[in-house]
Amino acid sequence: MADRPARVGLLGGGVIGAGWAARFALNGVGVRLYDPAPSAGRAVADVLANARRAYGRLTLAPLPAEGAVELVDSVEAAVEGASLVQESAPERLELKQELLAAADRAAPPEAILCSSTSGLRPTDLQRSLDRPERLVVGHPFNPVYLLPLVELCGGERTAPATVERAAAIYESVGMRPLVVRTEIDGFLADRLLEALWREALWLVADDVATVEEIDDAIRFGAGLRWAVMGTFLTYRIAGGEAGMRHFMAQFGPALAWPWSRLTDVPELTDELLDRLAEQSDAQAAGRPLRELERVRDDALVGLLQALRAQDEGAGAVLAAWERRLLGSQPPAGGVRARVPADWVDYNGHVHESRYLQLFGDATDALLGRLGVDLEAGSSYFTVETHLSHLRQLEAGDAVSVTTQVLDADEKRLHVFHTLRRDGEDEPLATAEQMLLHVDTRAGRAAPASGAMLDSVLRLRDEHAALPRPERAGRSIGRG
Ligand SMILES: NC(=O)c1ccc[n+]([C@@H]2O[C@H](COP(=O)([O-])OP(=O)(O)OC[C@H]3O[C@@H](n4cnc5c(N)ncnc54)[C@H](O)[C@@H]3O)[C@@H](O)[C@H]2O)c1
Repeated sequence: MADRPARVGLLGGGVIGAGWAARFALNGVGVRLYDPAPSAGRAVADVLANARRAYGRLTLAPLPAEGAVELVDSVEAAVEGASLVQESAPERLELKQELLAAADRAAPPEAILCSSTSGLRPTDLQRSLDRPERLVVGHPFNPVYLLPLVELCGGERTAPATVERAAAIYESVGMRPLVVRTEIDGFLADRLLEALWREALWLVADDVATVEEIDDAIRFGAGLRWAVMGTFLTYRIAGGEAGMRHFMAQFGPALAWPWSRLTDVPELTDELLDRLAEQSDAQAAGRPLRELERVRDDALVGLLQALRAQDEGAGAVLAAWERRLLGSQPPAGGVRARVPADWVDYNGHVHESRYLQLFGDATDALLGRLGVDLEAGSSYFTVETHLSHLRQLEAGDAVSVTTQVLDADEKRLHVFHTLRRDGEDEPLATAEQMLLHVDTRAGRAAPASGAMLDSVLRLRDEHAALPRPERAGRSIGRG
């Protein structure tokens, strides 16, 4: 995690600033936040609580110790000692220019300054700075702690090194930086979103559809596809064997008709605003904001996990982040995790499949450390598991799994896992597993070789000095 900063300074703690606080703190980065609104502390604490809950469901990878979030009463206090300053104040050019200039005067010379602006140009934002070369736009998406995209856009005076450093820092906290190579209003994503948003407003203003019908038109169809393949690859597939050329021949002419209202903007009359507010309040059905956020977060977590299983889009970013987290475990340690609340089944117990999940993750962590490289065609498959449930696991428990290699040769890896609650010696559960080395390209068991086999045998020899676990070699008890 070489690029992960020790501390960041945040300016503004509203929807986006609080999301940044959660993203950084949960990735082990200390946060100092300045927001003049008296309610900011409460709002940041609420968002952090939701984010902690979401991360508990998102991953079993061991998160670093949470960074402290400190609310401070000046820009200077927020930026002191920070490696990165993230400005998320209201979308007003002059206000942002003033804030960024104050940050520029007070921040350490090596710090970079990033703005969350949705559409203001970095060239305008950097006009007020003594060191304009260290400013870059880092435009995130709500909820910042779950959505990985951050658009990076430099202005005329931004140094290329600033963009590179910002990208490395955002990546270190699990994000997917996307460099906008040409400075344009609205960057990439908001240009696209605004076209859709404008059209949606027209459909309501013209009384063609309600806000709910429009949301349904997105969420039951194209919305599902977008997360997987965006728009171009989706249409490439829709063109059949002949691809994009066929798609364009079929639907290209419709572009000229045109179906949409293009850049016309509906007048935001009181009547239209009332209709929008009433219909969207009805959609919310009285559910408080934080509850709606949790509904959104739980579904996003599920989507991210489904995409991870396919190694597609944001799921591939999640997997890369988890690999980093697993890779940063101390070499002698096992896997650490906190048991999420939704592991508890209808009986009030943690479902038994979750024990195997924890042990499976410990095996993955071990294989990662041994240098097993799936892409090089080498892996281990588990052929046998013997699990002993000794004591109850509870939701919220902080636990760890330690792994001992009992034996190994070119073909076999025989391991013993022990699950413990933090601070306790007595195990909650144990698992003994036999794994076979597999040539994944040939699809069959084959001897391991090279540096990986060396590290397997070295670990076997080191672990031979450890006492043999009491439960090793047991079969099903009949007592
Ligand atoms: N809401 C979104 O979906 C979204 C997404 C991406 C980017 N953004 C951008 O992020 C920025 C913040 O948007 P938001 O939605 O969080 O707005 P917001 O209104 O929720 O939050 C703005 C916060 O800034 C604080 N603030 C006001 N003056 C300040 C000052 N002088 N110093 C420090 N803080 C100050 C306010 O008290 C408020 O808490 C904007 O530039 C916006 O374009 C918003």
